[in-house]
Amino acid sequence: MNHEERILSATDGRDEQLDLALRPRLLSQYIGQEQLKENLDIAIQAARGRGEAIDHILFHGFPGLGKTTLAYIIANEMQTSIRVTSGPVIERAGDLAAILTSLQEGDVLFIDEIHRLNHTVEEILYPAMEDFQLDLVIGQGPGARSVKMDLPRFTLVGATTRTGLLTPPLRDRFGVILRLEFYKVEELVEIVTRAALVLGIKIDPAGAVEIAGRSRGTPRIANRLLKRVRDFADVKAAGRITSEVADAALTMLAVDPQGLDEMDRKIILTIIDKFRGGPLGIDTLATAVCEEKNTLEDVYEPFLIQQGFLVRTPRGRMATQHAYEHFDRPFVDSGDDSNPKLF
Ligand code: ADE
Repeated sequence: MNHEERILSATDGRDEQLDLALRPRLLSQYIGQEQLKENLDIAIQAARGRGEAIDHILFHGFPGLGKTTLAYIIANEMQTSIRVTSGPVIERAGDLAAILTSLQEGDVLFIDEIHRLNHTVEEILYPAMEDFQLDLVIGQGPGARSVKMDLPRFTLVGATTRTGLLTPPLRDRFGVILRLEFYKVEELVEIVTRAALVLGIKIDPAGAVEIAGRSRGTPRIANRLLKRVRDFADVKAAGRITSEVADAALTMLAVDPQGLDEMDRKIILTIIDKFRGGPLGIDTLATAVCEEKNTLEDVYEPFLIQQGFLVRTPRGRMATQHAYEHFDRPFVDSGDDSNPKLF
């Protein structure tokens, strides 16, 4: 299965309509990310108090954790407009110039996947961010001329999965860098309950807990599972999501109680059963499970590591004792100190 077809994929299959309807519009409605919210609140209040545009902000964190939502909230709280685009969409310097010159004073420009901007486009961004200057070369060869223009003071909000993917000069031009964490189950329960209310879905508190616990710490996944469980409830349980209904629906979708799906199971069981728990290199693992190395690193591993199923050691990937226990395999201590013990 392509990872983008996964029900548990946080990267794709976004339902924009659903996202929009469910998106909190104020910082006070936003659930979770408490420390980030506190920092953001101060930056917003300070800028508002001074009547200035807020500093450029970089959000980093895994897909589906709320970076875009926060960009919309910033614009809303600052009572300005937002322009939304993404790194791969801006192909030429002229594309970015057109966007920048259309901004109004104080507007938010949101660039998702900002690490995917190409080099020429990125160079336009430096003076734009730092001095609100557009510095563009028009034409080529002897006829080329340079055009300089003042830009309105805007706020760039960038989003990326890892800050390490940005070039240092781009990273250094952000005044505020904020990291999004995976959400706690209690927070996801609140998010699922709120989404059910907005969408008019009948759900018991225990049903929300069941969905939240299997959502890999990610609101986008929680909301998607909620929709799928609602379908199941409509057809099989008179439209009410109880804990039993949620469990039956998610089991049918092959999402286990910890939120692991087929591919997660395959990864861990391959390491345990075929490589005696590891360590093994990422290339070997990618070949063994027939998946791209990058997809393994960016899509599957973060959650498995965060949940304590997998560790990255200098010698390679290893399954943890917790993974052996979860999959009912007798734990074999490989004698590698990097494998954390439970006791
Ligand atoms: N919907 C998706 N993410 C949310 C969040 N963090 N708070 C409230 N509603 C949400």
